[in-house]
Amino acid sequence: MNSHPMKEQVIVVTGAGKGIGRAFVETLISHPDLKTRNLKLCLTSRTLSDLTQLKDHAERREIETEIVDADLAKNPTLVLEKALSRFKKIHALIHCAGVGRFGDFLSLTEDDLRYTMATNVEATFLLLQKAYEIMKSSPEGKGLRGQIQVVTSVAAERPFPHSAVYCMSKYAQRGLLDVMRGYGYQDGIRILDVRAGATLTPMWGEVEPAQEAKMMKPEDVAIPMVEALFASERASIEILTIRPLHGDI
Ligand SMILES: NC(=O)c1ccc[n+]([C@@H]2O[C@H](COP(=O)([O-])OP(=O)(O)OC[C@H]3O[C@@H](n4cnc5c(N)ncnc54)[C@H](OP(=O)(O)O)[C@@H]3O)[C@@H](O)[C@H]2O)c1
Repeated sequence: MNSHPMKEQVIVVTGAGKGIGRAFVETLISHPDLKTRNLKLCLTSRTLSDLTQLKDHAERREIETEIVDADLAKNPTLVLEKALSRFKKIHALIHCAGVGRFGDFLSLTEDDLRYTMATNVEATFLLLQKAYEIMKSSPEGKGLRGQIQVVTSVAAERPFPHSAVYCMSKYAQRGLLDVMRGYGYQDGIRILDVRAGATLTPMWGEVEPAQEAKMMKPEDVAIPMVEALFASERASIEILTIRPLHGDI
């Protein structure tokens, strides 16, 4: 792993309050190289109490932290505006916020469609477009100017039953990332598609013990994401597929 002593890194994390996003933040602020990195965090999700807890944890580790409780579907770029106004720059966007509505193909409703698309597709596009614009405007020369990670899913590469709307939204995210990567090569902005498999998070609601035993824990996804964030600036890790040991459930 490369280390960049005291180089400031402003990292925005969406979906920070729960699940994979929360595990990402917890992994980051417990990282053994923390002392050599001057991290600043801007964390967002819809539930303020989740964010307050995380902010306290980060500040105990002397990491300046801004929190923004907002619905991305209603205001997708607010978190970027808050991060810029406090820290003046954004080096990385880790986009973990996402929703899933599942059901038989014929039972999925127009509301399921609109709810899922608003967050997973429309907000993702507007958030990533703005983040990219901010990173591209950074005057940091020819090297790495920014990085964007999005937790898509293995449902971005293969179909699952009961997941027509969810798969559609995840394939759409994948399409966006594939297009953006072409721009990223020109601009020194690396784009990582994190294709996670079944991970035990609040998104699943109640889970039977037998199913739980087959699933990953959020940190199983978060740890490689943090390693990718700190990977050599000469390289771009593009797709990280992480599924349970015995395959998809
Ligand atoms: N868990 C899995 O098995 C799995 C597998 C593959 C991919 N993924 C993907 O990984 C991402 C994270 O999933 P997760 O399992 O960690 O879910 P989770 O435990 O439900 O956490 C999702 C986080 O995103 C936030 N969020 C959701 N919708 C939002 C919105 N409209 N505006 C702002 N914040 C919003 C939630 O905030 P509030 O709680 O405050 O609402 C929460 O903090 C999602 O994109 C999901 O599709 C998950």
